[in-house]
Amino acid sequence: MYRYFMPTKVFFGNEVWEKYGDMLCECGKKALIVTGKNSARLSGALDDVLNELNKYKIDSVIFDEIIENPDLTSVEKGRDIFRNEGCDFIIGIGGGSPIDAAKAIGVMASNNLVGNEIYDSSKMKTVCPLVAIPTTSGTGSEVTSSSVISNRSENRKAGYSSELNFPKLAYLLPKYTMSLSPKVTRDTAVDALSHLLEGLYSHRRTPIIEPLIHEGVRLIYDNLITAIENPNDEQAREKLMLASMYGGITIAQTGTTLQHSIGYPLTAEFEISHGLANGIVMKDLMELYYPVIKGELNRLFNALNIEKENFYNWLEMLDLVADIDISEEFLDKRIPEVMKSRNMNNNPFEIKEDSIRKIYLNL
Ligand SMILES: [Fe+2]
Repeated sequence: MYRYFMPTKVFFGNEVWEKYGDMLCECGKKALIVTGKNSARLSGALDDVLNELNKYKIDSVIFDEIIENPDLTSVEKGRDIFRNEGCDFIIGIGGGSPIDAAKAIGVMASNNLVGNEIYDSSKMKTVCPLVAIPTTSGTGSEVTSSSVISNRSENRKAGYSSELNFPKLAYLLPKYTMSLSPKVTRDTAVDALSHLLEGLYSHRRTPIIEPLIHEGVRLIYDNLITAIENPNDEQAREKLMLASMYGGITIAQTGTTLQHSIGYPLTAEFEISHGLANGIVMKDLMELYYPVIKGELNRLFNALNIEKENFYNWLEMLDLVADIDISEEFLDKRIPEVMKSRNMNNNPFEIKEDSIRKIYLNL
């Protein structure tokens, strides 16, 4: 028996506003637009959204204070603006951070949640409609039920998942990613790659999504270096956005694994990007999992027409390195956190503390 659940209506392509913009009318009468300071403006996405809202006479208010690794304080601020302004739906524009924050604002406002209650999905009974508009190709958050929110006062970065988090609509326009720097292009694509690989690692993997995973990895393998070297390559940008959505659809079914659990403390402690944190442990994680899921990984490499070593060589070309110093103090504090993180329930076998320690010490 397999389960596949993906309730988000997805519109993909640079012309989707013309044909499907009117779907916004189904969401409500006043939108809270949740975004960061720059990407929604630079990409042109904010202008497009405001044009559409204007066209359909939908009111809006902009909350543009979401930073990378969004925190509880800004989510609570967004919740209060949503209520005080009388909004009835949310539009999240940006990378994973604004879209994750938009999800959290939606469930907090709709269920009167405060503080750490955001991590308890049993308290979420209802939610307002959410529209997701990605401006990066990485998180796939526009098609997932997860959100990652930091509680900075506790130096904690943690996720929660609820089916109420699935956006109602997702508009994916590859043109919004054209202005991304080579580093952001690389790091976000490596995040998407992690999601796809973790779809194979997770014990919740199913044959339904395996072809999607193979195609998503192939799109990144074939197009990432092109997009890094030629940021204006429209075709490569389109393929990466497609792969990112495939990664999102994948983890919406399988969840993530140790690959993500081990990366979160690296971001919290050393402030390296989420994608890079996944990337610097990717090879070691694959080696750890390989003996147990050899069949699945070999099928992937066959689909790509490569050997595992070719994949590692390609990873090497991406130059995924970070200047960090792993101390005993870090290990003592963070390994228990990794062991307790919810993603650990999805591993294909029981992972011991010692394996995590070795991977951290190998950095
Ligand atoms: Fe991720």
